[in-house]
Amino acid sequence: MHLFDPIKIRDITSRNRIAVSPMCQYSSVDGYANDWHFVHLGSRAVGGAGLVMTEAAAVEARGRISPQDLGIWSDDHVENLARVTKFIQVQGAVAGIQLAHAGRKASNYRPWDGVGTVPEDEGGWSDIIAPSAIPFSDGDLTPKALDTEEIQSLIQTFVDATRRAEAAGFQVVEIHAAHGYLLHEFLSPLTNQRTDDYGGSFLNRTRIVREVVEAVRQHLPERYPLFLRISATDWVEGGWDIEQSVELVRQLQPLGIDLVDCSSGAIIPKVSVPTGAGYQTPFSERIRRETGISTGAVGMITASQQADHIIRTGQADMVLLGRELLRDPYWPLKASIELNQSGSLPPQYLRGKP
Ligand SMILES: Cc1cc2nc3c(=O)[nH]c(=O)nc-3n(C[C@H](O)[C@H](O)[C@H](O)COP(=O)(O)O)c2cc1C
Repeated sequence: MHLFDPIKIRDITSRNRIAVSPMCQYSSVDGYANDWHFVHLGSRAVGGAGLVMTEAAAVEARGRISPQDLGIWSDDHVENLARVTKFIQVQGAVAGIQLAHAGRKASNYRPWDGVGTVPEDEGGWSDIIAPSAIPFSDGDLTPKALDTEEIQSLIQTFVDATRRAEAAGFQVVEIHAAHGYLLHEFLSPLTNQRTDDYGGSFLNRTRIVREVVEAVRQHLPERYPLFLRISATDWVEGGWDIEQSVELVRQLQPLGIDLVDCSSGAIIPKVSVPTGAGYQTPFSERIRRETGISTGAVGMITASQQADHIIRTGQADMVLLGRELLRDPYWPLKASIELNQSGSLPPQYLRGKP
């Protein structure tokens, strides 16, 4: 098995094991995809990635990280997204979408506009939700703790978004349960202090993720893979950790998750994370080995040999690249040359072959 072996999950085949990791572009107005998304995602399909995943797409408007996030909370969002998926597929790549809710980390400035909560008179909102009424950091708005009825409506927003994702032509759906956003906030004891069926014990803290996965899987066509992104650890004593991640995956396997995308961190501020080349890959390796599920490795994977090694040694079934693919949309094509594999230069670019 190597980086350029195709991978088939359910009925969908990716031409190689390279995926574009979801990356917010903070470039939407009212959640709509536009020319930026078309060119940004389209270029990475032209560049040879097997799976091109959108940034976090908000399942409801108040679930956006920033006012400029991509959204899929309305049927009106479908048309522009469909233009993007069509182009990605014509380039031979698979189009995926990450469905997300920011929870207590919503309504923040996009990175180049400032830090912290955006006030309402600048397009922000104060209707922020979470499992428990604990703000992310000092000075942030205190979120409202969801009641059980609201949790059921929230699950429905993921279902409706799944239906729209299919209508827009996406063939892979990833549920975002990482990085301190809403679903991760339920998982972690640091952010979930509920005393009802959705908090306390491991079984209760993980309940909402099981329910979202079950509901989404029911509405996603059988032929399409369902991915789940988790923070495999909070990197904090007393927080969510790799042992709980393994157990969660064991619970989710029978519910129809096909691949676990193994990220980490971001549940609370000021945590020291030992970043470095491939620093999260051991989580992918362990979850894959202990549960037998397919995994994706992500985090400072930048060299073709490094990515190939991860696949060859069975640490993951796919690699997801973030910043390296921002720097170079043609990374997969260059990697195919470096690894002496047949990449897929589009015919328009064949004269560029060495
Ligand atoms: C600009 C930017 C935006 C991001 N947005 C998202 C996102 O929408 N959803 C998500 O799960 N991760 C997001 N991430 C995290 C990346 O998907 C990836 O996990 C992280 O950057 C580590 O991989 P890398 O070292 O290859 O960049 C973002 C990262 C960057 C740099």
